[in-house]
Amino acid sequence: MKPLESTPQWQALIAARETIASASIPALFANDARRFEDFSLRVGDLLLDYSKQPVTRATRDQLLALAEARDVAGQRDAMLTGERINASEDRAVLHTALRTPPGATGWAGEAVAAEVAAMRSRMVELASALRAGERRGATGKPIEHVINVGIGGSDLGARLVLEALAPWVDGPQVHCVANIDGTELQSVMQQCDPERTLVLVVSKSFGTVETMANAHELMAWLRRRVPADDVLARQVLAVTANLDRVRELGLDPDLALPMRDWVGGRYSLWSAVGFAIMLAIGPDRFDELLAGAHGMDRHFADAPLAANMPVLLGLLSVLNGTLLGRRSQAVVPYTERLGRLSAYLQQLVMESNGKSVDREGETLGVPTATAIWGQTGTPGQHAFFQALHQGSDVVPVDFIGVARPVAGEKGDPLTLTANLFAQSQALMQGRPDPDIAAARRCPGNRPSNTLLLRALTPANLGALIALYEHRTFVEAAIWGINAFDQFGVELGKGLATHLEPLIAGGQALDGVDGSTAGLIARYRDWRG
Ligand code: F6P
Repeated sequence: MKPLESTPQWQALIAARETIASASIPALFANDARRFEDFSLRVGDLLLDYSKQPVTRATRDQLLALAEARDVAGQRDAMLTGERINASEDRAVLHTALRTPPGATGWAGEAVAAEVAAMRSRMVELASALRAGERRGATGKPIEHVINVGIGGSDLGARLVLEALAPWVDGPQVHCVANIDGTELQSVMQQCDPERTLVLVVSKSFGTVETMANAHELMAWLRRRVPADDVLARQVLAVTANLDRVRELGLDPDLALPMRDWVGGRYSLWSAVGFAIMLAIGPDRFDELLAGAHGMDRHFADAPLAANMPVLLGLLSVLNGTLLGRRSQAVVPYTERLGRLSAYLQQLVMESNGKSVDREGETLGVPTATAIWGQTGTPGQHAFFQALHQGSDVVPVDFIGVARPVAGEKGDPLTLTANLFAQSQALMQGRPDPDIAAARRCPGNRPSNTLLLRALTPANLGALIALYEHRTFVEAAIWGINAFDQFGVELGKGLATHLEPLIAGGQALDGVDGSTAGLIARYRDWRG
């Protein structure tokens, strides 16, 4: 694929850049009574309102022409049909196959349907037995606690979904341990009854230092506290694509829940990596989560580009982030149940698209992934909205709202929703009046999307997460990058392995740069 900047459709957008950047978004409404209808899109229980973006019909056509020119649809179909699009690792990318309903034909990953079905039935069988108390701990007590030991894509999905679907949790309590600083480890050891605890060691590579260290600590804890020789076999379960390494940890690979290399870590919550979720909410609700994601997959596959929610979101992100140089994006869900969403999207987007060479290894002449950050509303309004309204940088915002509370949910949805709508309105309209003090003026004309969910159900959460997965894919397709490898994380890990003995030991720090040597010396001194 030729570089983006040499694409005529991109050059046309470059030529229109100043016009787009200086367009008055409020004026776009003044001259167009149908703007909301024409710049919003509904897919099932999700409504996307992108009318507060600096996009005219002509700009939208230019963006869609770019998507055509970059063969977004062809690249999408290549992914869905299992082509090895992750060329640097010679792998297919088939997280969509994980949520294909059993028996569906002519669809993503048909070739792997049988093993997906076999995997899912194993998960269901084990989850059902554990939830029903038929499968118990080594001393015969029912499992009431699950500790998910994992990090990155082996952790963030579980944390996000378990918080978002808290009203549906009716199984064992799930605790997540990711960091190696000991805080979470200490907490779970204090909270959990070891005889009633299942430990999930979740690691696609089964080589992640943090996860292996935490797993060893928890296995030793179980061996100390549970008077049964087979405690590990009964209360520690590996979830991995690398069964060979399971035995190295002292576990039986035959008892492990396997995952395949065509599932990327940050795209893996739908696989056995999501087993903690299934334990907490049950197989039926987990299937609803999958079904919601599958519905979004179908939409992504079938809808024309102009009415394709992931395509529109991806194009708008490229417009703001790459064409207009708006190098960060805020995600602000107006529900505490989506409090983990921005952290999840940080990995999904920035580990997928935080790259500067294309699939041919050519350095890109344009900026790619923006920084993704955020916090829930309304608390974010009392933290960083000052900068959003009056800051020197224009930061596009994805607002996310939920129309229907879950039965019995407390709180004040009207005030919450009024703030949600008011904030995107204020960012657009501003308060540019010249007759008020400059310090009180808000420039306005600041873009946002609003995603409104009818309700935050398992299915709609699945659709929302799949939407962002596909948005991430569309961006990568436009830039021509591989969204599915992550070689950038290896350098730091390797240096840490080299530094650890230097920090621990007292040997000279020859050859270590001055900063690191100075830090090590001070650390050694203070650590004692
Ligand atoms: O270091 C980054 C990363 O490889 C992520 O891509 C991944 O989700 C995480 O670490 C954990 O990897 P694993 O599941 O192999 O332990």
